[in-house]
Amino acid sequence: MTGDAPQIVPFALKDAPALIEHLLPVQKLSTEAYKEQMAVHGKTLTALGSYWKGRKPLILNKACILGCLLPATDDLALDLEIFEQLMAMDDASFVARWKRRAKPKEILAELYIDPIDAFFTVDPPGSLPNVSPIDWSDSILKGVKVAWRADVSELMRRRLEVQLLPELTYREWVEQARRPEEVMDTVHDHIWDAVNAHLGTHAGSFPELVEELGILRFGHRPRVADTFCGSGQIPFEAARLGCDVYASDLNPIACMLGSDNHRNENLR
Ligand SMILES: C[S@@+](CC[C@H](N)C(=O)[O-])C[C@H]1O[C@@H](n2cnc3c(N)ncnc32)[C@H](O)[C@@H]1O
Repeated sequence: MTGDAPQIVPFALKDAPALIEHLLPVQKLSTEAYKEQMAVHGKTLTALGSYWKGRKPLILNKACILGCLLPATDDLALDLEIFEQLMAMDDASFVARWKRRAKPKEILAELYIDPIDAFFTVDPPGSLPNVSPIDWSDSILKGVKVAWRADVSELMRRRLEVQLLPELTYREWVEQARRPEEVMDTVHDHIWDAVNAHLGTHAGSFPELVEELGILRFGHRPRVADTFCGSGQIPFEAARLGCDVYASDLNPIACMLGSDNHRNENLR
């Protein structure tokens, strides 16, 4: 642990109310869950699991597990903001969920940015005015190259890029965007500083966050047991988040799928 980073004190959140007791953005979640259910063959777990008609969408399981682990604080508005970041339901996450990201030249053509060199390097240097928008049809700008400065954070990039997304309702955004789990390797790249500042954690991934929240609440990594696991959607998502998981079911097909899901998780 470095500098003034807060310590993870076992049981410090033992009696803290869980976030899910105070809030859950059900409308947004419902939209996301519907998109996942409609993905059919694009779903993460085997189609054989559709034998269970009450199969729980993975995104709903993620929300419930995180909602149980996260504390409700005195600042519920910020709690919600952080929760939505963890769920990839915040505006900046949609930059990564969008099918294509805007290139620096496209950003400079559309947005007012002053000064440009706070965000971009220009080659040859000095060949652009230092304020956008830029009219790239000007022949004098042919051959000018623009790139992100290496010290511009992913959060800053996304804050600019999100301004280029179309103005639509949340439902329309979800319809046009990819599901969070389709871009899970990058979608959360911008959130960890804000998450850690709010929760006093030191995480850079879900398994790290979940382990720290488990220690704060229970003194150890969270354990999830689902003894009626059916298609295994709940234990799969719990394992993917970093919980220790136990699952069983009376139905032998569920047990067969369970070992298959376990293999999927290990391959990630
Ligand atoms: C509603 S399904 C679970 C669906 C699951 N949550 C999902 O997302 O796919 C209920 C499961 O309970 C199992 N079950 C019922 N009675 C049981 C028992 N006594 N012991 C273990 N499993 C049982 C059934 O085989 C069934 O798979």
